This record gives sequence, structure tokens and C-alpha cells, in this order.
Amino acid sequence: MKHIDHHILRKALAAVCLAACAGGVAAREQSLQVLHWWKSASERQAVGMIARRLGEHDVRWRDALVPSGSGVGAGIVLRSRMLAKDAPEVAQLNGIVVRDWARLGLLLELDAVAAAGKWDKLLLPTVAATIKHDGHVYAAPLGIHRINSMFYNRQLMLRLGLAVPATWAEFERIAPRLQRAGIVPLAQSSEPWQVATLFETMVLAEGADLYRSLFHRRDAAAYADPRLGAALLRLRSAKRWMGSPIRESNWVDSVRELAEGRAAMMVMGDWVKGELLARGLAVDEDFGCAAAPGTGRYHLYNVDTLSMLGAHAEARAAQEKLAALALSPSLQADYNMIKGSVPVLANPARAKMDACARASWQLFSSGTAAQVPSLVHRMATDEIVRDAIVAEVHRFFLNDSVPVEDAQRRLGTIARTYIKTQ
Ligand code: GAL
Repeated sequence: MKHIDHHILRKALAAVCLAACAGGVAAREQSLQVLHWWKSASERQAVGMIARRLGEHDVRWRDALVPSGSGVGAGIVLRSRMLAKDAPEVAQLNGIVVRDWARLGLLLELDAVAAAGKWDKLLLPTVAATIKHDGHVYAAPLGIHRINSMFYNRQLMLRLGLAVPATWAEFERIAPRLQRAGIVPLAQSSEPWQVATLFETMVLAEGADLYRSLFHRRDAAAYADPRLGAALLRLRSAKRWMGSPIRESNWVDSVRELAEGRAAMMVMGDWVKGELLARGLAVDEDFGCAAAPGTGRYHLYNVDTLSMLGAHAEARAAQEKLAALALSPSLQADYNMIKGSVPVLANPARAKMDACARASWQLFSSGTAAQVPSLVHRMATDEIVRDAIVAEVHRFFLNDSVPVEDAQRRLGTIARTYIKTQ
């Protein structure tokens, strides 16, 4: 009897505590676990800023960080967590990936938030289109990155009296002078996504029409185009202007080489700008930005977005708060300044934009003729095709004995083999 009393009492106490504690926590604070890949200093600052603002709305941002440049490993982690029924409430999903997850019915539809915030009027039209599938909104956009950016160490170029190259021919003319001065002309890692990022800018330099038919339309005939061969050979021959040996390092290591004047230039998305700023360097003073050689008329872009996973009814209000916050004009201005990207808004605050941001936003907002969706950063085609192309380009880059015709044939096979899901 004594034993039973004790047992009942314990159960009753537990029940009281459960109700009280749960009620208390719910009233005090909601939290969202966010799966993302932002690990560098500027990326951490940008995340910290969103987390702080979200906290002001009584929602706690809980980090689920999968450190991997350009999110290579994050997709795998998200898929396995979904299968294990352990999905986070929010995930950084970009571009085509949003559409693919929405199609599976796994994302929370954000139509009500978008309607209340008049997103259709607020957003640049291309951004509004990337977050939609079948007429519904499935992501909150944060910023637009320009992939065909080139950053240069301004003091170094001034000291050597070198003009910033606008074409690869001009680059080839100044590169030997840098090398003779003991400076690496082009900071570059051999990590597959980083090689492929440089490559896609080189394809763009051969023509936006070619780029679009290769990666967006996946037109099989385009893979035999001699201009694709020229871009592949240019990529391989650019190895002589990179450090030796070319290391498979993090993109932040290349930024450091550039910042410390060991390398003169770096072609990469403008998250590099965020990182240079985080190191205390100033735009137009210590470093400058330009378009990647031969691509000045185009904006090769990707859009960073957050999607809400649909399996959490209790988190819905907090998820909607985060989505609404992403589009607030002041968050857009502050976040993008830290991150190196530009606001997704049709009419953003321009006062805080530096010269690089202003140029990027102006070109992007000029319309679709200038906009080219990035293959490597998931805006142009399905992940499977993207991954296969990145691997093939990487192989060609590393192995000088692969004939260019072989690489073109294999890339063409990849483009043909997989069914287009757009
Ligand atoms: C891109 C992403 C950027 C940045 C970069 C490096 O795909 O859009 O925000 O994180 O990868 O990891």
C-alpha cells in the first residue's frame, strides 16, 4: 500500500510538472532548429544577426551547422535526418532544391506570410519565381550572390602598376609579372565545387547563350560546341597561375592569401567580400571587386533561401515569424552587407550599399537578359546532374591526360541521360 501511494504520488507530481513546465516554456520561448552550412567568420556574423533579430520576436534560433563549402554535405545530412524522422524545423535550401523538396510535399507552404507581406510586390520578379512551385511559396529569400565576381588585392595591383583585367587575355598578360614578383596571380583551391565555380564563369565568358543551352536547357548539341572545349582548356591552363601545389583547401584559405597579399586575384561568389570585410579590409581601399574576366554584362547568380520543414505543426507560428523577418527591409540591408550578397527586394535601401553591392544589385535588377542562373550553386538544373557535371569538370582539371573531346562527350552524356524535371 505504502509502495502504491508513493508510486501514485510520483506520477501525479510528474504530470503537474509536465503541464506547468510545458506551458511555461511555450509561453516564454519557442525555438527553431536551423540546418545550414554557414561557418566562416562573415557567415557566422550574418547568422548571428538573424538569430538576434529572431530572438527579439521571442523565437530562439538553434544552430544545426553542417560545415561544408557551398552546402555539399548539408543535403545529405538533411535527407538522412528526414528519413530518421528527425527533421529540423528550418533548412537552408537553395534554388532548384526548393522545388524538388516542395514537389515531395515536405515543405511548409508560406502563402499566407507572402500574401500578408505583399511579397509579389516586394521581391525582384526572378527571386519571387525561384521560391515558388506550382503557384505556392516554399522559401524565404535572404540575399542574391553574384558568382562571376573577381576580387583583387588593390594595394598589390597599385604597387606593381597593374590594371585589373577585364578579359582572360588581359589576365594572361599581367599574370607572368605577378609570378615574377613571387605572387600567386589567382587564388584557387582544387576542391570540386570551387573548381567548377571558376569553370562556370569561364563558360559564361564564352557566351551567355552557350551557358544557357548547356546548363539550363541541357541541349545535347551544345556539348559539342567548340566554345565548351575552349572553356575546358582555359580552366586547365589556368592551373599555371594558381599556387603550386594547388591544395584542396577551404575557400576561406584563399581569401586569406588574397588579404595577406600572397595572391593577387580570386574568382568566386561575392561571399568573399563578406569575408574580406570580416577581416577588417575595406572595399575600394584594400580590395576591389570586378566581374570575372569576360563576363561584365552578366550576373551569374544564386539566391540563399530558408525553407520550413512541414512536419512540425507546433512550430508553425515561429517558422512564419522567421519567414516574415527575412524580408524586413532593415534585416535585408544589414544581413546582406555582412554576407556579401545583395537584397532580394525590388526597392531596397541603397544608402548602406558599397560599390560592389550597388553594381551587383543594379545589374541583377536590370532584368532577365543580364541574369544567368548558376549551375554549381543550384539555380540551373537538378542536383544529380549538377553533381555529375562538377565531378567530370574536376576530373578534367586534375588529369592533364583526359582529351578535351572526351570530357565534352562525357558531359553531353550526363546532360542527355537524366530526365529533365523542370
Ligand atoms: C553558396 C552560398 C553562400 C556561401 C557559399 C560558400 O552556395 O550561397 O551563401 O555560403 O556557398 O559556402
